[in-house]
Amino acid sequence: MSTEPPPLSGPPLDDSRRRWLSAFLATSVGATILSFLYPVLRYLIPPVTSEPSLSELELPFKSSDLPPNSGRIVPFGGKPILVFRTPAGELKALSAVCTHLNCTVQYRKDRSDVWCACHNGTYNLDGGNVSGPPPRPLTALEVNVRGDKIVVRKA
Ligand code: FES
Repeated sequence: MSTEPPPLSGPPLDDSRRRWLSAFLATSVGATILSFLYPVLRYLIPPVTSEPSLSELELPFKSSDLPPNSGRIVPFGGKPILVFRTPAGELKALSAVCTHLNCTVQYRKDRSDVWCACHNGTYNLDGGNVSGPPPRPLTALEVNVRGDKIVVRKA
């Protein structure tokens, strides 16, 4: 019995086919390596984002669009703020980032307070922490109405 492998069948590869196959394999290997390296490089060298460093923001809705006892969340400088009108009609703005673990708070219409759903933290309408785990008050922002536009400013 012979232990040699059977002879390969088919025509022998000519040089052009061999070069094309080598280039194809090299390109595939290179693309595979790049597909693994790209996410790692994006993580290590994050893209420069244009984080707005605003100190003042004109809100994208009118003062008349915010009836008493209602609130809206608006992005301001990359973070959410809560703009609301008290049941008495006073316009206020607070940071919407909970001082406990940074969840976004919301205006609670039925209780007229500011509430964090993550761990049931409660704040009063001035941003003071009332109950639950939040350790500090919410940061208050200055609110001005110019015509029918609402302008919020970091205090
Ligand atoms: S994150 Fe708001 S109460 Fe915990």
